[in-house]
Amino acid sequence: MAKLKTKYCCSACGSESPKWAGQCTDCNAWNSFVELVGAPLGAKNWRSEGFAGVAGNAVVQPLREVSASIMGESRISSSIEELDRVLGGGLVAGSVVLIGGDPGIGKSTLLLQALASYSQQCNTLYVTGEESAQQVSLRAKRLGVDQCNINLLTETSVERVLDHVQKLNPDVVVIDSIQTLYTEMLESAPGSVSQVRESASRLVSFSKRTGTSLFLVGHVTKDGSLAGPRVLEHMVDAVLYFEGESGSRFRLVRAMKNRFGAVNELGVFGMTEKGLQQVNNPSAIFLSRHESQVAGSIILVTREGTRPFLVEVQALVDESHLSNPRRVAVGLEQNRLSMLLAVLHRHGGISMTDQDVFVNVVGGVRVTETGADLAVVLSVLSSFQNRAIASDLVVFGEIGLAGEIRPVHNGEDRLQTAAKQGFKRAIIPTANAPRKKQIEGMEIVKVNRLGDAMEQLI
Ligand code: TYD
Ligand code: MG
Repeated sequence: MAKLKTKYCCSACGSESPKWAGQCTDCNAWNSFVELVGAPLGAKNWRSEGFAGVAGNAVVQPLREVSASIMGESRISSSIEELDRVLGGGLVAGSVVLIGGDPGIGKSTLLLQALASYSQQCNTLYVTGEESAQQVSLRAKRLGVDQCNINLLTETSVERVLDHVQKLNPDVVVIDSIQTLYTEMLESAPGSVSQVRESASRLVSFSKRTGTSLFLVGHVTKDGSLAGPRVLEHMVDAVLYFEGESGSRFRLVRAMKNRFGAVNELGVFGMTEKGLQQVNNPSAIFLSRHESQVAGSIILVTREGTRPFLVEVQALVDESHLSNPRRVAVGLEQNRLSMLLAVLHRHGGISMTDQDVFVNVVGGVRVTETGADLAVVLSVLSSFQNRAIASDLVVFGEIGLAGEIRPVHNGEDRLQTAAKQGFKRAIIPTANAPRKKQIEGMEIVKVNRLGDAMEQLI
C-alpha cells in the first residue's frame, strides 16, 4: 500500500511542492498553495485508466497517415452564429471547450440553448451538478427548448458520469460545472484543486479517445480567473470567457484560447426573457451617442478577433490631492495607461503628475490591443483641456515610447466599419492609410508622431 503523502499545489498554476510556501516559485502568485490530500495514484492506476494524456495504448505512426476523421474539420454548427464564430466556425468534433464567467452571467443558459440546437443533429447529454432536473426543465421551458431531444443527468461523480456517457455514447456533452464534479480516486472535497484537475483530466482523456465533444463550465474567482488550477486551461482546446457589466443587457463571449480558431474572437449576445439572443450587427452597440459633445470622450475603432468594433473611450482628469495621484483604467490595462501618461509628458509636454486620471471603456468591453493607445491619450488630453472632441471622429493607433504612432493590423477594415456607421473623420497612423482607393465619405488624417495627433485636436 502506497504511503499517504501530503503535497502542496499552487491553485494558480498547478505546480506542486512538498512544502507549503507563501509564494509560488513558478508563477510568483502569493498565498496560492493549498494542501493536496487524498490517496496518491499508483502508477498502475494511471496506466490502466489510460490517463497518460490522450493516448491510452498508443502506437507510433506517420503523421501523413493519421486519419483526420475524429479530430478533422468536421464541425457541428449550433445555428447560434455568434457562438459558432467564437468557436472558430462551429464546434469541432472531439474538442474540449471550457466556459468561464461570473455567476449568473448566462453560462448555463447559453449551453442549454446550444445543446438544444445540437440535439437536432446529434446525440447530446447535459450533466448538471448544480441544479436539479426540475430547475433545468424550468429553464428549458422558459427558453422554449423543452421539446428538444436533450438527455439530462444529475450526477457529480466522474466515474458514474463516464459510465453513463459510455452507455449513451453522445456526441456532445455539457458538464455544468466542473467544480461540482469529484472523482472517487481522491479523497479531497469537490471543488478543491486536486479534484477539479483530476476530474477534468479524466473527462478530457475520455473525450480525446472517443471523439466526444465536451463543454466544461468553470467558475471564476473574485479576480476573474477560473477557479481551480491554471492547468485546466492547458488541458482544453478552447477557453471562452463571458464578459460584460452586470448591469448591462449585453453579454460578450471571448475566446481566450482556441486551437481551432482566432483568439480574442468576440461573440455578442443580449440577455432577454427568452434567453440569450445574438446581436447580429454589434459594431456600434457600445456607443452612447451623446446629445451634445462632451470633453474626454472619443470613439475608438478596435478589432477583436476578426471583426472591428466601435467603442467609446472616456477619460476624466481631475486635480489630485494625493501624493500618489490615482491612475484607474477600466477595460484597459493599468500599466499601459501609466506608460502612455509618461509618453504624453515626455513627447507631448503635458504633465499629469498632479492629476488623477480615470479611463473607462464604455459598455463593459475589455480592449486588449495596443491600438487603443491613441484613443486613450487623446481622451485624457481632451478631458484635461476640457475641450470636446468632434463626435464624428474616430481614431486608432499604437503609441511607442519614442512618441511615434505605429500602425495596427487591418486598418482599412476598421475605416470601412467606421464609415458605414457615419463617421466622417479619422486620425490614424500614416502606415494605415489606404493606398489605392479612398474610403467614401471619410476624411483621413495621417499622423506620425504624438505631437501631430495633438495638433489635430486643437
Ligand atoms: P445562468 O445561465 O443561470 O448563469 P450561470 O450559469 O452563468 O450562473 O443565467 C442566469 C441569469 O440569466 C439570471 O440572472 C436570469 C437570467 N435569465 C434571463 O434573463 N432570461 C432567461 O431566459 C434566462 C434563462 C435567464
Ligand atoms: Mg449555471
